[in-house]
Amino acid sequence: SLMPFTLTVNGKAHVIDAEEDTPLLYVLRDELGLNGAKYGCGVGQCGACTVLRDGAPLRSCFVPASSLGGQAITTLEGLRAPNGTLHPLQQAFLSEQAGQCAYCIPGMIMAAAALLREKPRPTEAEIRTALDANLCRCGSHNRIVRAVQRAAE
Ligand code: FES
Repeated sequence: SLMPFTLTVNGKAHVIDAEEDTPLLYVLRDELGLNGAKYGCGVGQCGACTVLRDGAPLRSCFVPASSLGGQAITTLEGLRAPNGTLHPLQQAFLSEQAGQCAYCIPGMIMAAAALLREKPRPTEAEIRTALDANLCRCGSHNRIVRAVQRAAE
């Protein structure tokens, strides 16, 4: 059934007209034009679709958007400063050329953003643990870890 609901994304409230079981990822990409979060597996296994919910990582591919009213969703686009300046993580991932195919990178950055919010100076082991469940098929993990370390400096 169609039931409009309010969704707060990157600090802005949107009224969304979508089936109540529509995953957040689809609403972000198809309704709001926010393409940072990527569709990988669709079943919560790969992390390509990671966004933040009240600062914590959330896999947006299988959580209904209609269940997230009242919670603050942040996407990759929302990490930038209002004047467009890249978030330190975004800049560090570019500087370290952390992406190869880069499909996993938005999810990696969002998972890393959640980590740095909790622990501004994580150890390498803490970074690896935090990103362990975000899959990268290119084998870019070492550069990705370096990028997070650089952003934390
Ligand atoms: Fe959501 Fe893979 S697309 S976890």
